[in-house]
Amino acid sequence: MQDKAQQDQPRAEAEDASAASSVGPTKRVFIKTYGCQMNVYDSQRMGDALAAAGYAPQDEAENADLVILNTCHIREKAAEKVYSELGRLAPLAAAKKRNGGKMAIAVAGCVAQAEGEEIMRRQPLVDVVVGPQAYHRLPEMAARARSGARTVDTEFPTEDKFDHLPTPKTARRLAPTAFLTVQEGCDKFCAFCVVPYTRGAEVSRPVRKILAEAERLVTGGVREITLLGQNVNAYHGAGEDGVDWGLAQLIRRLAEIDGLDLIRYTTSHPRDMDDALIAAHAEIPKLAPYLHLPVQAGSDKVLKAMNRGHTAADYVRLVERIRAARPDIALSGDFIVGFPGETEEDFEATLALVREVRYAQAFSFKYSSRPGTPAADRPQIDEAEKADRLARLQALLGEQQRAFMEACVGREMPVLIEKKGREQGQMVGRSPYLQPTHLLAPAESRGEILRVRIVGAGTNSLAAELV
Ligand code: SAH
Ligand code: SF4
Ligand code: F3S
Repeated sequence: MQDKAQQDQPRAEAEDASAASSVGPTKRVFIKTYGCQMNVYDSQRMGDALAAAGYAPQDEAENADLVILNTCHIREKAAEKVYSELGRLAPLAAAKKRNGGKMAIAVAGCVAQAEGEEIMRRQPLVDVVVGPQAYHRLPEMAARARSGARTVDTEFPTEDKFDHLPTPKTARRLAPTAFLTVQEGCDKFCAFCVVPYTRGAEVSRPVRKILAEAERLVTGGVREITLLGQNVNAYHGAGEDGVDWGLAQLIRRLAEIDGLDLIRYTTSHPRDMDDALIAAHAEIPKLAPYLHLPVQAGSDKVLKAMNRGHTAADYVRLVERIRAARPDIALSGDFIVGFPGETEEDFEATLALVREVRYAQAFSFKYSSRPGTPAADRPQIDEAEKADRLARLQALLGEQQRAFMEACVGREMPVLIEKKGREQGQMVGRSPYLQPTHLLAPAESRGEILRVRIVGAGTNSLAAELV
């Protein structure tokens, strides 16, 4: 998963968030989310847990009683953002104090997990540092903060945090699309990546709990669910029959829920893309024809140094099998350029792989050395060289994205309408391939799946007409 929270903003945010504030004395919480969709999901659950403790959500930090920064540690830039944001909060906290109040500040997420107490040392303003496995204890920590205590909690639990985090309320009307975390953590240890350290070992939630949550979401008006996991296709949770189920079997069971029309999952690792999951793409109409399948690089030497556990040819063969099962599937990927040891020739192998696979969408990054990961101490590639490779890769990926968008023009497809657009009478939804799609439609069509014809393609979105 990537730094997508900003681009792909909380599609699953509850519409009427204020409904939760009707109980108890009203304190106000502002939650700012960085990083991947898992963080978006976690922020929503923290919001639910705090609502139960009398906190109403608000969408700005000013005058809040509690500010939570749900952070990302994946690249250096992502991690540094939290400190600049804390700097911006300082005058707001001081103003609150002058008025006799207290703005408690909590740092959550992967920076919290990775840096722990160091955050307290670097920024005295912070009252709570809470890692992703301890969110169920957040209301208690917030209460302690109000009486002046500072808390660091980055324990990996022996208990399941999801047992304590409230699941989404159904009394309020939910957005038509929601995230649902089914798996957390990672055992793959790619040489560049912090996730196995910040999120811990792979853990899958039991099928029973996932079904209960999905059913509650659907009752609340959700029609599309995106199953989340750092390694979602490594899912192996206890099934209804007591035996472990894989992701394909979980999706098959979820597809039986009436009113749930579309199922997606992210992020997948090529090594865990098994026959059953590929078959699911051929056999389950509710499973969206879209797959985020990061490869990172196209050179076998680099893939080996990254500890990815597959070659470029393995990946290409896998893509062929997936396309044989579901010919219209749109592929998306993640790429890293300038990994330690990557030569110009290695980089060209990445370009060659991209040309061969053809992506509908992709995310690409300059390698960023992360403390504590195996690649951190290897000789680094020059920054300017990394920037040059990134620009060349992005030019190619951009071309492929445009070609994919343009190939949609003239086609008919179902679009799940999510919200009003900027222009009068306009609504915005998502195509099956996850492209934002604009069209003129009645406001009541929110939450409907409309049949549309694509009439225009921009860089990042489509224009459509009702059929
Ligand atoms: N679990 C997912 C991705 C997790 S991180 C997977 O296995 O693919 C999201 C993306 O961030 C990664 O796919 C990778 O492309 C990028 N990334 C991770 N660590 C990075 C680093 N140190 N420098 C640059 N990009 C990184
Ligand atoms: Fe990170 Fe690799 Fe695990 Fe993905 S599979 S989360 S890139 S260690
Ligand atoms: Fe970032 Fe943690 Fe997600 S490091 S990408 S928020 S798992």
